[in-house]
Amino acid sequence: MQIMKKSVFVTGATNGTGYAVAERFAKEGYDVFIGSREESRAAEAAEKLRKTHRVFAKGYGMKVFDEADVNRIFDDIRASGYLLDALVCNAANLGIGQKTLEVDIADFMNVINTNIGWNFMLARAAARQMKEKGSGSIVFITSNTAYRAIPDRAAYSASKSGVLGMARALALDLGKYGVRVNSVLPGMIKTERWQNNFNDCRNALSNHTPLGDIAEFADVANAAYFLGGDESRNCTGAELTVDGGNMIQLYPILEN
Ligand SMILES: NC(=O)c1ccc[n+]([C@@H]2O[C@H](COP(=O)([O-])OP(=O)(O)OC[C@H]3O[C@@H](n4cnc5c(N)ncnc54)[C@H](OP(=O)(O)O)[C@@H]3O)[C@@H](O)[C@H]2O)c1
Repeated sequence: MQIMKKSVFVTGATNGTGYAVAERFAKEGYDVFIGSREESRAAEAAEKLRKTHRVFAKGYGMKVFDEADVNRIFDDIRASGYLLDALVCNAANLGIGQKTLEVDIADFMNVINTNIGWNFMLARAAARQMKEKGSGSIVFITSNTAYRAIPDRAAYSASKSGVLGMARALALDLGKYGVRVNSVLPGMIKTERWQNNFNDCRNALSNHTPLGDIAEFADVANAAYFLGGDESRNCTGAELTVDGGNMIQLYPILEN
């Protein structure tokens, strides 16, 4: 089979952080596969990338936590002549507002299944292609909440910590095939949610970082590109935190 240009698959990539990651790879000439729960949005985002960056791009509608669906997508990528060079698992169930004393266990498990189980399925499918190719790089977008808790997010925090453990285990298992596995840990990102939620988010303590700022989409995208691309060829099992230094503090320094 003739292998085409370098390629990346990014989940949850129709807008915001995920689209910025997809765009960052496209800027470097990668062909891009975009995943979304909504096929039409994935197709639109792919078309936008094709137009703006003149790369091949294709969108996939994805069923969450469905391994047959993951295999369908990866078979299609292969049938299109690609063995993936990079996978960026960005999509996440944010599990917002899951009050510990009340949360339905099914909702709790949805977060775990999506953020750990589904990402495992995706990583394994990508690793099979990468093993065949002899190299590849898997990047998980986790969170600094893997280490520092925020209220009403037990499943989310547990899932993001779990992904770090999974990344190390996969890095160990897949290194012999030339497959690297690394994690990006954003702190708060300037999403639309953040823009629209002034009182709850915009003044949150996580804004009080040593650098005095939280992450832009591009900051997370640059970190994902570094770990996903060849420049990090000797990094595996690594964690790159992108949170303005928020997590290194014992407590945030508040000006009077
Ligand atoms: N925002 C922050 O402040 C922050 C902080 C730390 C870490 N992070 C992490 O950074 C990544 C991007 O964050 P973000 O805020 O940009 O994320 P987001 O927009 O809330 O979610 C990213 C994408 O994930 C998909 N998604 C949303 N809910 C889902 C669900 N229940 N099940 C499956 N897929 C779902 C959506 O794509 P489709 O609708 O197209 O499927 C969405 O566009 C995530 O992994 C997040 O955990 C974010």
